[in-house]
Amino acid sequence: MKFSFSTAGESHGPAEVALVHGVPAGLGLLAGDVNRDLARRQKGYGRGGRQKIEKDEIEFLGGVRHGRTLGSPIAMLVRNRDYANWESRMTPDPVEEPPDPITLPRPGHADLAGMQKYAFDDLRNVLERSSARETTARVAAGGVARKLLAEFGVEIHSAVYRIGAAAYPKEQAASSARKADESEVRCPDPEVSEQMKAEIDAARYARDALGGEFVVVAEGCPPGLGSYVDWRDKLDARLAAAILSINAIKGVEFGMGFEVARHRSSEVQDEILAEDGSVSRASNRLGGLEGGMTNGEPVVVSAAMKPISTIAKALRTVDLATGEPSRAFRERADSCAVPAAAVIGESMVAVVLAEAFLEKFGHDNITDIRAAYDSYMARISQSVRGARTPER
Ligand SMILES: Cc1cc2nc3c(=O)[nH]c(=O)nc-3n(C[C@H](O)[C@H](O)[C@H](O)COP(=O)(O)O)c2cc1C
Repeated sequence: MKFSFSTAGESHGPAEVALVHGVPAGLGLLAGDVNRDLARRQKGYGRGGRQKIEKDEIEFLGGVRHGRTLGSPIAMLVRNRDYANWESRMTPDPVEEPPDPITLPRPGHADLAGMQKYAFDDLRNVLERSSARETTARVAAGGVARKLLAEFGVEIHSAVYRIGAAAYPKEQAASSARKADESEVRCPDPEVSEQMKAEIDAARYARDALGGEFVVVAEGCPPGLGSYVDWRDKLDARLAAAILSINAIKGVEFGMGFEVARHRSSEVQDEILAEDGSVSRASNRLGGLEGGMTNGEPVVVSAAMKPISTIAKALRTVDLATGEPSRAFRERADSCAVPAAAVIGESMVAVVLAEAFLEKFGHDNITDIRAAYDSYMARISQSVRGARTPER
């Protein structure tokens, strides 16, 4: 089966669940490999009270034995500690006195269209699943993907380069993303980090919220992941879809991104150089992707996140119970979640790259995959001529 995952769970329900298919047998995998990223997702200046309640950690329910994957689906459970405070409102069992329905849909959320689409009169039924709490399970799945990729030298980092008006050059953020874990806002520059925190404080003081931009960098990808042959296989399109599926992400760019449209070709393409009989690139402006495939340079994906929709200065809405103008429902909220979104971005990039990696090198077990990988890498690194199909 192809590498893929699905998630289940409501924000204040008993747990978040990730089910990962297509993981090869024989991969060393410990709970700690996954928990590390879950902890990184929970961090970030500007998060709301929920993160103080939760300490996200997985329990393996299937797919792993004695620290190694079995090739069977990997099931992971992350309990919601907050469920203890929500049990009567969120229990799966029927209740005698249901809580009052919430009827004040929040602009910028799934609330209104979700109630219309699924015929709900209580927007809790929508918000519980549309909440970004679901991304906990995505990060768990991403942790498995990342462990697989790390076996073959692929490392993934992220950095935040804009929050509100505070900005750091994207290229510098990409090249120093390894340092981002040291910053509360995931910006590698300490001075700009302080400016970003001040931006968040100012927005919070004004009872408002902020978005921003982040970059994800995947180093060590072999050339040829993805394909130009079929539109569904194009890796840039798959990465874009995965990043856009993250809550509140409104735009995706690769390398220099939309800037390409403002430059001449010679300022955009990455020239191919011959170096000791093999090929290299003069630059990486296109973010490591050409023709829907990796080209061996670092994959550089950036994204724009809109500001958090739930703000203290509640926005106008309509009370769906009365049809009267009102103010949006407000529940505990982050004032900025761009640093967390960057970690989720790493996870989604890891999932797409792992899927493409296994398409290329096989699915069954790490030993066979390694043999296929080594043979491919040996062939393409032989010489410039060796990159071509031998003539018969
Ligand atoms: C890590 C993370 C945390 C978020 N926290 C909140 C929050 O506390 N309050 C809120 O209103 N939206 C929050 N959002 C954004 C909403 O989940 C998102 O805007 C909403 O589900 C609607 O989806 P859309 O913006 O993609 O259209 C968060 C998003 C992410 C990625």
